[in-house]
Amino acid sequence: MPVAKKKHRSNPEWIRRHVTDPYVKAATRHGYRSRAAYKLIEIDAKEKLLRPGMTVIDLGAAPGSWAQVVRERLTTGCAVRGRIVALDILPMDPLPDVQFIQGDFREEAVAAELAAALAGQKADVVLSDMAPNLSGIAAADAARSLHLAELALEFAIAHLKPDGALLVKAFQGSGYSQFVEQLKRGFASVAARKPPASRAESAETYLLARGLKRRENSTSAKGLK
Ligand SMILES: C[S@@+](CC[C@H](N)C(=O)[O-])C[C@H]1O[C@@H](n2cnc3c(N)ncnc32)[C@H](O)[C@@H]1O
Repeated sequence: MPVAKKKHRSNPEWIRRHVTDPYVKAATRHGYRSRAAYKLIEIDAKEKLLRPGMTVIDLGAAPGSWAQVVRERLTTGCAVRGRIVALDILPMDPLPDVQFIQGDFREEAVAAELAAALAGQKADVVLSDMAPNLSGIAAADAARSLHLAELALEFAIAHLKPDGALLVKAFQGSGYSQFVEQLKRGFASVAARKPPASRAESAETYLLARGLKRRENSTSAKGLK
């Protein structure tokens, strides 16, 4: 099964779909950097994930629309209460109140830099919308996506508060059900969410895992495999 169709921004079909997409229009109207904002808005409306005072990690953050939404949800009065640390392999235009780390999350040094940014604090929510550049070769794309999702899980297990939550993008296909099992070994509840803003023809799904299970001897997700 293809992970997702490769984006071809020069493809007339992609351009037609893009300019007629209501979420693209809404994003432009409301000042979001991407239509992806609505995926998080829709999930958060149902799941009540984000609140002022929280520490939130945003993996695969560029161009920044999820970080914009997190910022809004953490705002009370006219101030942001809490912490937002965003990370991407690509550069991202600055957002007020968002600490940005540019780096490849597959590199241990980058994950360590993110951990250091937490300065011993645990996070309330880890978001991962990371997706690799798609090659169009389904098996390779699925393996790369899964690897990013597993790294997000590993980070979440090590750095979430006991009642914290991980929202992670995963593609249905090879390795998906095994990844769900991995999540279930680490978290008390795991549910798949496909918000209306996520295109029906895309195999993209969001897995929401809540409440860390207590584990005796290990602090990393490696033992969950
Ligand atoms: C779907 S986009 C995220 C959109 C973002 N949530 C938003 O709302 O603006 C996926 C992101 O994952 C990032 N990404 C892919 N591989 C990565 C890696 N190894 N480390 C960090 N970020 C990565 C990409 O650069 C891309 O910006």
